[in-house]
Amino acid sequence: MKPTQHRAETKAVRGGVDLRKKNGPLSTPIYQTSTFEVTDNEQQLRATPTDMFYTRYGNPTLTVVERSIADLEGCDRALLFASGMTAITSSILALFKSGDHIVAQRDIYGGTAKFLAQWLPKFGIETTFVDTTDYEQHEHAIRPATKLLYVESPTNPLLRVVDLRRVVSIAKKHNLLTMIDSTFATPINSKPAEFGIDLVMHSGTKYLAGHSDVIAGVVAGPSQLMEPIHQTRTTLGGTMDPHAAWLLLRGIKTLAVRVERQNQNALRIAQFLSQHPHVRRVHYPFGEGHPQRSVAIEQMRGGGGIVSFEVEGTGEDARKLSEALHLFTLAPSLGGVDSLVSIPVLTSHAMVSAEHRAKMGVSEQLIRLSVGIEHAEDLIADLEHALSLVGSSRQPAQVG
Ligand SMILES: Cc1ncc(COP(=O)(O)O)c(C=O)c1O
Repeated sequence: MKPTQHRAETKAVRGGVDLRKKNGPLSTPIYQTSTFEVTDNEQQLRATPTDMFYTRYGNPTLTVVERSIADLEGCDRALLFASGMTAITSSILALFKSGDHIVAQRDIYGGTAKFLAQWLPKFGIETTFVDTTDYEQHEHAIRPATKLLYVESPTNPLLRVVDLRRVVSIAKKHNLLTMIDSTFATPINSKPAEFGIDLVMHSGTKYLAGHSDVIAGVVAGPSQLMEPIHQTRTTLGGTMDPHAAWLLLRGIKTLAVRVERQNQNALRIAQFLSQHPHVRRVHYPFGEGHPQRSVAIEQMRGGGGIVSFEVEGTGEDARKLSEALHLFTLAPSLGGVDSLVSIPVLTSHAMVSAEHRAKMGVSEQLIRLSVGIEHAEDLIADLEHALSLVGSSRQPAQVG
């Protein structure tokens, strides 16, 4: 881990750029170019390993954003990708080979689970999925060929929180690498590298960019792991476009203030929902009664901007409620300034069988809120109105 000089709020705004006076533009220029001109072939040779050779290899706009994210995460280096999925797939393909084995938690993003379960076997890499918070299962799944422990925290949509110290201690004991999808946590609420996690990944599409207008992926970690990931990014070609990188940088400047507001709004909403007679259960990491609340409080600065809850009633009631909301827009994705609502069984978990969903605890009554930065009272009034139209009463709601 690199020593940190400034606090996260400062790094988010000023990170990645050289702060010395230099009579240059305040806003990072977008190097919207695929290639870079050189004066002669000697210079061409010198330019090849730099970020001014060919944009699939790197680009000065991307470099600024990568430095900013590495600094926020407390890692040596970060790399930008065209999507969260290509960040995950390129990193895993860079570091593992045929014959290797991965232990992954069950509650990870569906696209990642699909890649691990259906794509990696084509390259001779097997994955065993384990219960997310049963660490004995993690240990039992480890084989001599195991190389990676893959986790995500908090999880989607039930906001389970992974004990990072335990994960790292298991990994160290068995000499495994660790990789986390920290999209829901953000580098403001959690810095997994401080707990010893090797690779920290984000779908930058969500909180980092923050405005639901760009698709972006990020991986950060130590130099010796990032170099092969960089080479793989160049080969597979998942490099982010410079304009998208600039939008991401612009988003990151307000990351700390957005996340702080989202933490406050989401906590208020979780408290409101847990008191509502038409709500059966609320899931929020900092909510009273959440099964991993003490781990969440120890590891995270705030509970994050996602709240999920089960309406007291049927799946039809959940659908009706989601359509009756005005300020929460019915749309998948999360992490932006606008509040969104979705029904996991119809969106993120639509491909999961009903039986498996039931095992995971994802019911038809479950509603996921991505809380934005609007005024909490307005959001609560919107929920109150929609809840009044559906469901039957039961008190009090369980939080967990
Ligand atoms: C937790 C998580 N990880 C990864 C991804 C994939 O990211 P992207 O859509 O940017 O490829 C998503 C997308 O929803 C996600 O929610």
